Formats: sequence, C-alpha cells, structure tokens
Amino acid sequence: MFLRFQGRKIKEKQRWVSMIGAKNVTLQGNVNNKYRDMKEFKRTLVTSALPYANGGIHIGHLAGVYVPADIYVRYLRLKGEEVLFIGGSDEHGVPVTIRAKKEGITVQEVVDRYHNLIKDSFADFGISFDVYSRTTSDTHKKHASDFFRKLYDTGKFVELESEQFYDEEAKEFLTDRNIKGECPRCHAADAYGDQCEKCGSTLSPEELINPYNAATGNALVKRPTSHWYLPLNDYQEWLEKWILEDHKEWRPNVYGQCKSWLDLGLRPRAVTRDLNWGIPVPVEGAEGKVLYVWFDAPIGYISNTKELLPNDWEKWWKQEDTRLLHFIGKDNIVFHCIVFPTMLKAEGSYILPENVPSNEFLNLEDDKISTSRNWAVWLHEYLVDFPGKQDVLRYVLTANAPETKDNNFTWKDFQARNNNELVAVYGNFVNRALQLTKKYYDGVVPACGELTETDKATIEEFTNVKAEVERLLDTFRFRDAQKEAMNLARIGNKYLADSEPWKVVKTDPERVKTIMHLSLQLVANLAIAFEPFLPFSSAKLRGMLKMENADWSRLGNTDLLVAGHQLDEPALLFEKIEDDAIDAQMLRLEKIKEENERLKQLEEAKNFKAQPIKPNVSFEDWEKLDIRVGTVLECERVPKADKLLKFLIADGLENRTILSGIAQHYAPEELVGKQICFIANFPPRKIRGIESQGMILSAENFDGSLGVITLDRETKNGCPVV
Ligand code: MF3
Ligand code: ZN
Repeated sequence: MFLRFQGRKIKEKQRWVSMIGAKNVTLQGNVNNKYRDMKEFKRTLVTSALPYANGGIHIGHLAGVYVPADIYVRYLRLKGEEVLFIGGSDEHGVPVTIRAKKEGITVQEVVDRYHNLIKDSFADFGISFDVYSRTTSDTHKKHASDFFRKLYDTGKFVELESEQFYDEEAKEFLTDRNIKGECPRCHAADAYGDQCEKCGSTLSPEELINPYNAATGNALVKRPTSHWYLPLNDYQEWLEKWILEDHKEWRPNVYGQCKSWLDLGLRPRAVTRDLNWGIPVPVEGAEGKVLYVWFDAPIGYISNTKELLPNDWEKWWKQEDTRLLHFIGKDNIVFHCIVFPTMLKAEGSYILPENVPSNEFLNLEDDKISTSRNWAVWLHEYLVDFPGKQDVLRYVLTANAPETKDNNFTWKDFQARNNNELVAVYGNFVNRALQLTKKYYDGVVPACGELTETDKATIEEFTNVKAEVERLLDTFRFRDAQKEAMNLARIGNKYLADSEPWKVVKTDPERVKTIMHLSLQLVANLAIAFEPFLPFSSAKLRGMLKMENADWSRLGNTDLLVAGHQLDEPALLFEKIEDDAIDAQMLRLEKIKEENERLKQLEEAKNFKAQPIKPNVSFEDWEKLDIRVGTVLECERVPKADKLLKFLIADGLENRTILSGIAQHYAPEELVGKQICFIANFPPRKIRGIESQGMILSAENFDGSLGVITLDRETKNGCPVV
C-alpha cells in the first residue's frame, strides 16, 4: 500500500501512520491538516525516458535512468505489488534526422537500426520492461494524433505566427540542433541552436550570431510560419500549487529546477514543427507540419501501455489509485514536470505523476559523456570486452549513481569496486560459506544448535536489513540501498572471521554446524537482497542454493534454508578483473581523445577567420627592415631548450647564427640546404649563451603551428626581400 501525504506537519504524519498501524507505508510529502488529502495507491506505473533512436545505449543512460528504474520495478514485483514498467524508443525529432544525414541513409533505416540495438542492450542488461515499443508504431501515431486533436478541438492551443529560420536553398525550416552559429556568450564558432557545447549555455536559435544550416553550412533567413502553442503561462498557478506545495518531497534537484522555471514565469511553447519527419499535425491546412517530438514522445508512454494492454490500459493511466512515476535524466526535468503534466491536465482524463526521480549526469573519466564525440562506454561494446559481466556494471553504476550531483565513472574505480567489493566481500563470503559446507557436510545444510552471544549479535545486525533497504528504495536512494545489501556480506565475513569454523571444527564439530547454518542463512539473504540490484548474480546464487525463487517478505529471516536441504555445486560468483583489461579500456579512450583532437582541428581549420588588418605603415617604415635571403648550412637542437633550433645561415657575407623557436614544428635535418628569409638588422640577442643574429621568417597557421618561408626559385644568398 502506498499512501501519499500532503501538507506540512511531520509529527502529524507519524501519528497518522501509527494510528492506522499501517505496514508498508511509503512516506511521501507531509500530512495536511487532518487526512483529507491522503491518497491510497493500488498499483504503480513506472516509465523510463524513451531514448532517441540515434545511437546506442551507454553507461550514462544506464546509470541515470534504466538501472534505478529497473531496481525499483524489480523491488515492487518482489513485494508482490501490481506494477508495469514502460519503455520504448523515441524515433522522431531532429536527432534521428541528423544521424541519417551523417550516415547517408534514410531516417527509417536509422531508427530501425538503433531501435533494435537499444532494445537488445536493455534485454542484455536485464532491464525488465513489460513493454519496449517505439514511437513510430501505428498505435502511437494514432494515439498521439488523437491526443493532439482533442486538445485542438477543445481549444487548448493558441495558434501563433512567428518568424523562423529558413534555408532558401534547401527549402526547409530549421530548428534547434539543425542550426549552428557563433555562441553569443563564449564566441565558440559552432554552438547549436539549443545549446553551446563549449560553454554549456542553453540558447535559442535567435541568440546565435550568424546562424547557418548545420548540415549544409547555408546562411539562414527568417520566414513567417504558424504553429500551435500550449499556453503554459495559463497553467502557471496550477503548477505552482501542484509542484511547489503538493510535491515538496520531490528530490531537491527536481524541485529546484521546477522552481526556477516557475520563478522565471512560463511562456507558451510550440507543440508543432515544420519538419518532414514526425507525426503529421492532424489539422487541415497543416501540411508539412508535424508534432514536436517533445509533444509526441511522452505520449509514447501511454501508447506503449496501450499496445501491451489494449483492453486494460486505461486503468493504468486514468484511475486515481495508480501511482505514476517517471524515471529520467536531468535534461528531461522540465518536460516531465511541467510540459507533459500540463498536456495531461489540459486533456483532462489522465492522472499526473506522483514523483519524477531524476538523476544528474554521469561523466566518463572526468569528461562529459557525448554520443557525437564517441566519449562513452557503449553497452554493446562493453559486453564484447566483459562478457557475462552485466551485474558488475550494474553494481558500479549504482554505487556511483549520480543521484544528488554529477558523478564520475573511471575504469580504475570499476576495477576496484569489482575486485575489492564484489569479489573480496560478496563473492568471498559466499564462496567460503558454500565451500566449507561442501567440505564438512557434502553440501547439506546442517542443523542449528544453541545460539551463542556472537550468533545472537550477528542475527541482530541483519534482521532489520529489510526495513532499511525498503526505506531507502521507497525514497529512491538506490546507492545507499545497495550499500545496505552489501552490508550483509560484510556481516557474513566478519562472522566467519570471528567464529573461525575451520579451527573450531577440530575441537567442537557440533558448534560448527550452527556457524555454517547461520552463514548459509546470510548467503540466502544476500541472494534475496541483491535480487533487484544484481539479478543475474542472484539467479546464479539461487541456483547454487537450490532456492526456487526469492521471497522478499522473508528477507532478514534466519530460516530461509532448512536443515537437511541439499545445495548445488558452488561456483564463483564474481571474478577478479586484471590490469590488462583495464589498460585496454584506457587505451581505447586515449585513441578516441586523439581522434577527437584531430576532428577538432579540422573543424577549426574550416572555421578559421583571418585577423583584421593592422593599421597602415609607411613605405619608409617598411624600408627600415632589412630582410634577406639565406641558405641553411647547419641546423641543430639547442640542449635543454625544447623549442629552439640553432641555424648557421649562409648570408653572402660571413655567415651568421640565428636561433629560432620552431623545434616543435621541424626536425633539424628537414631544413638543411633550404633557402629561407631572415631579418638581418635585428640587434643581436643572447639566448642560452648563444648569440642570435637575426630572425627567420615563418607563417603561423590557425592552430599555432609554424611553416618556415622558403623560396621557390634559386636566389643568391644575401639578396634583399623587396
Ligand atoms: N528522447 C529523449 C531524450 O533522450 C527523452 C524522451 S522521454 C519522453 O532526451 F518522455 F519523451 F518519452
Ligand atoms: Zn558558448
């Protein structure tokens, strides 16, 4: 049973809970003045953000959304709650069209390819969706279209004409990510219409300096076009009450972001676009217009439920006793907390989300994960390198979940958590308990004798694990909940170390039976406690224990395995990850960095703009400089100066020595025999004890690299440059 409390007084809430003597109560929000706002939920509908079908799934997706959602859903199922877990691919919008252009294939081919890849990755990692569909399904297209039409027919939209960017050559309107231009804040040359990746500012295309078509480079003009807008401003007051007053229990990052949007004041938002990929706007005269992807995608949650349960879906979306939860990443907060609820409210027949557990971002080796820069650990690639190790990744991502702030994934930490926690704590305890049981009792659970103080203290330590894990999971604190489960293994290791059955067996074999009996109970508890977090390992462990299924209600008990029960052969639950596996990953990232550096240079070269011309100089000024031709006779490095080369130049007189700071751009032997230009009348200068008699002329490239100016026809040394 889930109860939701609204209002303020915590004390009141506690009194209420004790009054009804309710068990399994989820405390959310606060009790208001009596109990009139109390809600009781019979079922839980969990949605997880629909990933764009423009690439694979990486660790950031998994850590931010899908692992926590899956843990939560598995937990509810274990408790016997009625629950549905909805997923699917987001196949409309600009990102998929950009990918199609990049790869030179059709948009349909893009979404087909990535939808299948994504679906397989989720299945591989045990993300236990009840349905995983796609927003190009017929069910969805119809449902989204009908949804729009209902709002349209009931006058919920405002139609407005505005000026949008238009590419006259390509004959298309462009939005957000299809537009690039100079960032008004940091002046990066290639900021997107919605965001500058260099400085992170959120932008609108209007703010860009010299906007151009990201795909073709064409300059853009403004053209009037008309669109339908959802007047969020009309819902401002309602949203303020619904979020800021009634949902104070939302995570601070979610609540805070909503508050700042609301404080800024909401404005109408266009829900249609001029685009040729998407769901056509179901209104006469709207040819060439489609639903905005952020209008249709969240409706996908509903359509996918409908696809799964054609006759029963409304119970999940329209009954007040359904508790709706959206698991998302932080860039999706405004859409799930403000825009989608407003759509649902405007439509009128749907329930609203109870909570929106949103995570912050996960970085990879201190750098922002990025699909376009290939800075990511892709699930399908991970499985090639670490076959069968899905749970290791699940474990590490939960242990490092970016729940309250951005967090960092490093391969070293991945290795350390596997070796020092999964192997050394969890695996080690399980293995010791099972091996000893095999050795002493042929794998049969021994009977429990009289309990000692140590036994009692140990039991005491883990009897409340269920309440603890539940308290944490109920409030979406997955990393702490997993720590709590891990604590069972620590308790087990400590128990074995303290009671030393391998010694006691020689003196008091009866006593060892009790020790092993209790240890095995702990092992069985681990199998249950880790079931939501590490489903593959729990299944494997249950296999070794011959435990049919995990009965969550019995978590914390000491009678999970009865005396006389025959266990199966023990096997290792986790294995050590060696340095070379980690080094290989680091090397891969190193290579990606190099490749990105190369691409960045190419991009910079493309965007190079010449400096403005300096103020004029007189001919007399120019004549004062004595620039001449010379031939490089010798060239060598200057010891302890990594930038300097020392030249001996034949200058048609007595030869001269010149030092030049180009050692990072030339090998000394490259220039010997070449004719160059030098300034002959600079006063001599001593550098590192060597007198430099002039300056060799070079051109400085856009990226700071230097090219020495050479002659293209033979000239006598000492001739002037005029
Ligand atoms: N495709 C979006 C993203 O990856 C998420 C869409 S969530 C939904 O950011 F609600 F719109 F489905
Ligand atoms: Zn910027």
